[in-house]
Amino acid sequence: MGFEEMWADLAPIGRSATSGGYFRQPWTSTDAELRAWFAEQAGARDLHVEPDLVGNLVAWWQPPAAEGPAVLTGSHLDSVLDGGAFDGPLGVVSAFAAVDLLRSRGFVPTRPIGVAAFVEEEGSRFGLACLGSRLATGATTWEQARDLRDRDGVRLRDAVEAAGFGVADDPTWRGLFDGRIGCYVELHVEQGRDLVDRGAAVGVASGIWPHGRYRFDFTGEANHAGTTRMEDRRDPMLSYAMTALAANKQARLADARATFGRVHVEPNGTNAVPSRVTAWLDARADTEEEVASLVDAVTRQATERAGRDGTTLEVTAESVSGLVSFDPDLAARIAADHAEGDWPIIPTAAGHDAGILSAAGVPTAMLFVRNPTGVSHSPEEHAATADCLVGVSALADTLERLAS
Ligand code: GLV
Ligand code: MN
Ligand code: MN
Repeated sequence: MGFEEMWADLAPIGRSATSGGYFRQPWTSTDAELRAWFAEQAGARDLHVEPDLVGNLVAWWQPPAAEGPAVLTGSHLDSVLDGGAFDGPLGVVSAFAAVDLLRSRGFVPTRPIGVAAFVEEEGSRFGLACLGSRLATGATTWEQARDLRDRDGVRLRDAVEAAGFGVADDPTWRGLFDGRIGCYVELHVEQGRDLVDRGAAVGVASGIWPHGRYRFDFTGEANHAGTTRMEDRRDPMLSYAMTALAANKQARLADARATFGRVHVEPNGTNAVPSRVTAWLDARADTEEEVASLVDAVTRQATERAGRDGTTLEVTAESVSGLVSFDPDLAARIAADHAEGDWPIIPTAAGHDAGILSAAGVPTAMLFVRNPTGVSHSPEEHAATADCLVGVSALADTLERLAS
């Protein structure tokens, strides 16, 4: 199956009939369909699929003479809620297509090549970004993660077990990688307009901005919407509303990014002052100090406002990802490894499993494929097939170099 056929085969899985976007949450029936697709692609290529105890997958291309630390490629198949088709799947489909291209060139790797699909990269279900790769590398332990709960109160350990995995309580488990991975290369759709502005189909990542997710719990007092005088209210919605505006202002002032994209209101009735508002701040900047000072500034303003509103505020860091600098020599070699001139080397403010592997000490690189509008985490996310095929060929060249 070529790139376009693989893409068409994957396209209906988890797609919303109303928005055209994707709901590919981990350890669900949609996830099982994605895994079946992955197994079918691997099987068609005689690649041996190895799942780990939480559901990360690797399809191995390991000819008899291939030995030593493996070259891993791939990405993730899960999506944000109502996400696009490309964020994640482009890296997995391109990895299988790159294996095909290398075989058509008669290339036989002397090191094993693995095609990976990491689980829960988006953290859309359990709130921790790159959960699968964190567990696989040991950055997060199973003991730290297993009692995380999704929006319906389902615990991670139960979700994993219901999906047919769930023996991660095994004390001998050391994660999928446990010293076997020599390097990792992830191809990903670009999630901004840098490559469009530079007129390049493909780019190479220099690093990832540090970022984090912070839960803001505002607590007030439920009361009647008609009979409670305005001056008698303790309304957490007001504290939240001001905080969302403050976050936007602070991020603009600091040339950083701040987003409240998720809010939960209790009891969420039209004719009652809410008792509680929980909202999640996603904060990013180009240094860890700037992320910390952005979150501090927002927290300070939110606390002051809560004091005036008669509400209380508690802030909890749910997911923290430090600054990532990818291997500069590897990036430079990849950027120069093709006929059309050097690919641009650019930073990104989006998180990736590649960042987790890099932080775990694995030499890591990323290739980005141009996104004509820059839109991502949305049904509108797109990349032209011609650019995707340039990406496949760049990935194949990179794997050939690394696995020779
Ligand atoms: C993942 O795509 C993220 O940057 O949140
Ligand atoms: Mn994403
Ligand atoms: Mn992604």
